[in-house]
Amino acid sequence: MSKGSRVPLPKFVSTAQQRWQSGDMLECTVIHDELTDVRSYTFIDPTGACFKFKPGQHLSLALPLPGGDDFRAFTIASSPTRPHSIQITVKTTGAGGATAWMYKHLRPGVKLRAFGPTGHFSLQDYPTRKLMLISAGVGITPMMSMLRWLRDRRETVEIAFLHYVRNPAYLLFQDELAALNKELPNLHLYQIPSQVPSRERWQGMSGRVNQLQLSALLAPEQAVFCCGPTGFMQQVQSILAVQSISPNNYHQESFGAPASERVETALPATRVSRQSVAIHFENQQIEAKCGERLLDALRRNKVVIPTGCQTGLCGTCRLKKTDGNVQMRHQGGLSNIEERQGYILACCSILETDLSLLRV
Ligand code: FES
Repeated sequence: MSKGSRVPLPKFVSTAQQRWQSGDMLECTVIHDELTDVRSYTFIDPTGACFKFKPGQHLSLALPLPGGDDFRAFTIASSPTRPHSIQITVKTTGAGGATAWMYKHLRPGVKLRAFGPTGHFSLQDYPTRKLMLISAGVGITPMMSMLRWLRDRRETVEIAFLHYVRNPAYLLFQDELAALNKELPNLHLYQIPSQVPSRERWQGMSGRVNQLQLSALLAPEQAVFCCGPTGFMQQVQSILAVQSISPNNYHQESFGAPASERVETALPATRVSRQSVAIHFENQQIEAKCGERLLDALRRNKVVIPTGCQTGLCGTCRLKKTDGNVQMRHQGGLSNIEERQGYILACCSILETDLSLLRV
């Protein structure tokens, strides 16, 4: 794979009016191997439009897998201050599935449809002067977007960035982080492997995330952003709960949970009523069962909507409800205002009555 420029020069000079829209195509232009199983993919809009997003948001890509399109959400690692291209960094997991398809088939020149950007995991939504970023593994990607954004804007916010990995061989973006450490005057960077080969070869902090490390770096009124595997974030959350961090100051993001970890939001089959409900969506009337998950009903009727986490977290499957009721339990994929405006998440909405929906 190419070891060329990480941020390619745009082929086009876009006007302010040309903006990439959700549902448009992306064209892969550069692939960079970060580690043996971690790759960065850079995309442009084939028509030369610019991207508008917040640092920390994500995109959902429609990947043409043999069994049909698979939608996967990926955090954008690049900064919105460089809007001519967009970059994601992906860890390849397993022999089959979406990330393996990307590793094998996604090459410069390949075009994919994408949806978004969405998500509330952005420091732009929570302005602060004191920031703690905590990530593990490839959960570093939203933090890179935030740090690149802060650097380009010459921000002077106080940042403690703790990044956890299994061992030093898994550290990502090391050269760039060293440069960011110089460019951002108030960045305090801690790369923390849980295992180290020897004390001679690693002199920084090491070990798993723990109370001692976090409490030493926490400051009053600090906004905390955390991204990593589910177990890691649960551990961070329980440590911070002891430290009395206000829930308003804690934000977390997680993607790519295997199906076994996904929240089962649909009612058990025995509780799905025989009673039919009708869904009105884009000039179609879809028959569904009361108690069925909205996303399942749409898919059964070959209606494709983008999805990401499928746990009610990322907001990718957002639709607008203009009539009817659903029972919804999400994990922060919608704001209170959006809920009041009638937005729902198809992945965690259970049908209760006839529904009228709009795509957003
Ligand atoms: S797919 Fe992420 S909230 Fe529904």
